[in-house]
Amino acid sequence: MASSTSARLQLPQLDGVEAAKRAAAYAAVDAHVRAEDRVIGIGSGSTVPYVVERIVQQGKAVNAGRWFVPTGFQSKELIVHAGLQLGDVDCYPVIDVTIDGADEVDSALNAIKGGGACHLREKVLAEAAKVFVVVADYRKNGTALGQAWTQGVPVEVAEFAYAKVMRDLQRMGGKPVLRMGKAKAGPVVTDNGNFVIDAPFSAEVMAQPRALLQQIKLLTGVLEVGLFVDVVQAAYFGNQDGTITTKV
Ligand code: 5RP
Repeated sequence: MASSTSARLQLPQLDGVEAAKRAAAYAAVDAHVRAEDRVIGIGSGSTVPYVVERIVQQGKAVNAGRWFVPTGFQSKELIVHAGLQLGDVDCYPVIDVTIDGADEVDSALNAIKGGGACHLREKVLAEAAKVFVVVADYRKNGTALGQAWTQGVPVEVAEFAYAKVMRDLQRMGGKPVLRMGKAKAGPVVTDNGNFVIDAPFSAEVMAQPRALLQQIKLLTGVLEVGLFVDVVQAAYFGNQDGTITTKV
């Protein structure tokens, strides 16, 4: 069971959920990105821009000697536009610290990720990192997976295998849906050229995330599952009242 603590930060004014995201991101950077860190993984989603914002505030001198490895197109753009040096996991298979968003985190630091369809690369960068930290607003801070994030477990699949994997997930008791783009004109295609299935499962099944992860990973055609089990070392949540909740 992870422990949980709270602290108040002085932060620039910003409203509601955005303020909470920024507070979490700033707290995580301040706690985990050390001056001597040379390779930093940058995750995906709407909280991560605040991570980059805080890193840029650490100054040009320290950032000049660093490489930043993205989890996808969005974070690559963030890194480039912030004037930071872009690296990749081919060159840097060992990352000092990766900071990423999350869709939900339970009390044991298990997480659901992949709401932005980036979870394959996100998991690679999480596992490549000596320290993997997630940042989120208060809505993502839960006790059990599948309560706040009801859309289901994101599963990245090879395009030609999606119908077969949907059937497999149904047989496992899930209610899989192929993720469609915003205009519903076609399926979401990941940065790796694959499809994403969202598979809700019962609370009983979600209560055993490691077993579920292992079962889905074994399905032929599955590239990665958005269940992050025993990977997250710390989670920072910005709260509505300006405080931060930390789970370690
Ligand atoms: C993308 C992710 C994101 O990190 C996750 O969806 C959280 O995003 P946000 O910070 O916008 O809430 O897993 O695949």
